Amino acid sequence: MPPATLTPVEVPCIRTKLPGPNAKRIIAADERLISPSYTRSYPLVASRGHGIMIEDVDGNEFYDFCAGIAVASTGHCHPEVVAAIQKQAGELLHMSGTDFYYPQLTELAARLSQIAPMPGPHRVYYGNSGTEAIEAALKLARYHTKRQYIIAFHGAFHGRTMGALSLTCSKAQQRRRFSPLVPGVVHVPYPNLYRRPAGTDPEQYARDTARYIEEGVFRAEVPPEECAAIVVEAFQGEGGYLPAPPAFLQELRRICDKHGILLVVDEVQSGMGRTGKWWAIEHSGVAPDMITTAKGIASGLPLSALITRAEIMDWVPGSHASTFGGNPVAIAAALATINIIEREGLQNAREVGEHILSRIYDWPQNLPLVGDVRGRGLMIGMEFVTDKQTKAPAAEQRDQVVDLAFEKGILVLGCGPNTLRLCPPLVVTKKQADLALDVLEECINRVGSGKHRRPTWGEAA
Ligand SMILES: Cc1ncc(COP(=O)(O)O)c(C=O)c1O
Repeated sequence: MPPATLTPVEVPCIRTKLPGPNAKRIIAADERLISPSYTRSYPLVASRGHGIMIEDVDGNEFYDFCAGIAVASTGHCHPEVVAAIQKQAGELLHMSGTDFYYPQLTELAARLSQIAPMPGPHRVYYGNSGTEAIEAALKLARYHTKRQYIIAFHGAFHGRTMGALSLTCSKAQQRRRFSPLVPGVVHVPYPNLYRRPAGTDPEQYARDTARYIEEGVFRAEVPPEECAAIVVEAFQGEGGYLPAPPAFLQELRRICDKHGILLVVDEVQSGMGRTGKWWAIEHSGVAPDMITTAKGIASGLPLSALITRAEIMDWVPGSHASTFGGNPVAIAAALATINIIEREGLQNAREVGEHILSRIYDWPQNLPLVGDVRGRGLMIGMEFVTDKQTKAPAAEQRDQVVDLAFEKGILVLGCGPNTLRLCPPLVVTKKQADLALDVLEECINRVGSGKHRRPTWGEAA
């Protein structure tokens, strides 16, 4: 049942100044009580959700085109997910898979094995967040190979604990004053087709970017036989919504095979059907050795998984574990989520994603500020520039568009210095997408015309 106050036609509806009076009160408390390290783009104070709708504490209704940051894959509070959670919560809330057995652990592992993008048999390690899955991958890569170096990429985001942060190379603020981090990580360039050197062939550029690992790093910095893993996002998320060209990933696979290095693919954001296939890596035909998944896997409950070829997960009891990882309620949510994605999410992500891309493909020609649009399925990025020739990043204008869209009832977020991301729930309809794009187009035109002033929140109309 949709919450009573949602409008029957379910379009965004802004009823108060933003933030409204209740939101203001909660934000004031948040400013007193909550860690100031969080990065809130605009003052949304959510109260409940349904499908792609989010209602705030003042009764304002929004379209959520960021899916709670790529998590609400089946939409907010999908009835099947809620029912699975409620049933499981009445039967077993927790028992700790580290110390005891329960059937949900193997049931989900078997399901993940069916959809894994590399040949089985597989093994699965459970955590509670993307970061934990990455941390496990990092430790397992060292454990299994007995090698210490890890290669990761500029622009990568793999999480914020010390190990995962050592791989993250997205924003300096995320690392500031936390060093020394875990040693042995080398960062190399990630391909950005929009910003490749003028006149270069895209495929050759993609291959050359990967080849720098052999021709630069292995020649001068790290002996390849000491390298445990290459960790890569098949579709870079926080770094700016950059799909990895297939040739780049194929080249990474070749390098890994040649030197006995593990290819670890981080699908925390791009996995679980977001790109129209279960995994973004599938668009390249490359089989990884390990993948990490989290975010969309359980429609909002905290769960992550590291899935590997079985022989790689050879660590012995005591090597690694987590009290809460693989919680039965989160797993029940994941099983329901996977059923929904399989039944409708994958196809819908492909169809609505193509629809969105076909509507915006000419925005770089026709709209001020938009330099590039790119994406697969419902993982779509739009890069903002002040000058289409020099491609100078328009970070401030991107932020203004994000703010203005919020004021008009569309929730979107930025990523990278100057990209806006669209990652709605996989159940979004074409009609909803059209409405959101109409609003976004209007916002871009308004910011591009220079008429929009960024609000000081609290004064916003
Ligand atoms: C690709 C990728 N890896 C890892 C993480 C970290 O996940 P979490 O925030 O759940 O720890 C994120 C989060 O945005 C991500 O996008």
